[in-house]
Amino acid sequence: MSAVTYELIKTCKQTGARLGRVHTPHGTFETPVFMPVGTLATVKTMSPEELKELGAGIILSNTYHLWLRPGEDIVREAGGLHKFMNWDGSILTDSGGFQVFSLSDLREIEEQGVHFRNHISGEKLFLSPEKAMQIQNALGSDIMMAFDECPPYPAEYKYMKDSVERTSRWAERCLTAHERPDDQGLFGIVQGGEYEDLRKQSARDLTALDFPGYAIGGLSVGEPKDVMNRVLEFTTPYLPTEKPRYLMGVGSPDSLIDGAIRGIDMFDCVLPTRIARNGTCMTSNGRLVVRNAKFARDFSPLDPNCDCHTCRNYSRAYIRHLIKADETFGLRLTTYHNLYFLVKLMEQVREAIRADRLGDFRDQFFEQYGFNKP
Ligand code: GUN
Ligand code: ZN
Repeated sequence: MSAVTYELIKTCKQTGARLGRVHTPHGTFETPVFMPVGTLATVKTMSPEELKELGAGIILSNTYHLWLRPGEDIVREAGGLHKFMNWDGSILTDSGGFQVFSLSDLREIEEQGVHFRNHISGEKLFLSPEKAMQIQNALGSDIMMAFDECPPYPAEYKYMKDSVERTSRWAERCLTAHERPDDQGLFGIVQGGEYEDLRKQSARDLTALDFPGYAIGGLSVGEPKDVMNRVLEFTTPYLPTEKPRYLMGVGSPDSLIDGAIRGIDMFDCVLPTRIARNGTCMTSNGRLVVRNAKFARDFSPLDPNCDCHTCRNYSRAYIRHLIKADETFGLRLTTYHNLYFLVKLMEQVREAIRADRLGDFRDQFFEQYGFNKP
């Protein structure tokens, strides 16, 4: 039995979206799910107690960052990432593949792995499938990700084909190097950009290796929304229905709903936490930039339809004041609200799937959020 299993509860008759459950060694969460990002073993400004309270069952962290700081040995000595950061829910770690490509310049890809420079110190480093597995085994995350290449958008067909084939070879090396298959599940990552035949090839290669779950990578890298939707539509049919599907790096409310409609079960993104620290909130009526001067005397909550701790107790005027004054409490309040908003949104998505009405929910949500406006 794999360390990570998926249970399909039902599919929405209106859209085909999936309601399910993922079981990991640190508990069970319902899907579709949004995973808050805790890059450096902390979801910036949030305590694990607050994450629990706002309803998060799984969070994401990063191999690349924890390898550089504090180093995986220290995390292992602490008793693993869960103990180190005092989070007893599930943890997924990204492999470092994407971070090497997005954070460092001067990288050189070869069959063995990737040479690049530490984005902090400038020191020369090397990451490979084996190294990414060794680090994630030391961290002890419930779900580990295979070491992949996330090519830029757009990329030439020939480049993408070579890259997909290398990512498949790397995936196989990850499986071989994985030392804790009984308590950590390893997911494969489907690449292939916007090319249908390459997505198919990638999905075929990876499903042949029988991972307990599959991610779709290489999206949300600057392509238009309809391209992402089309890629999801032609990729998911090649993925097994009895395994979870994770769309990497996606967290805007519209894309979460449209991803769920296309059969995606898991999502992560820095978007809600990043924009929160910059004074922007997601609300049922669209984005609200609480830093704006027009909220100086607005004593209403961030979102009148939200019952989160922030909205029940604090006003837009107060939060604006804190953020303008560089008081960190303001960032905690907006971060808490944004995460709560997405966790609640996914709860509503699951409820709509249960009632076979996710299409109707989408229409109502888009109308109110303002996505339908020109
Ligand atoms: N995060 C967002 N996109 C990707 C991707 O394609 N690969 C990995 N490893 N992480 C990601
Ligand atoms: Zn709120």
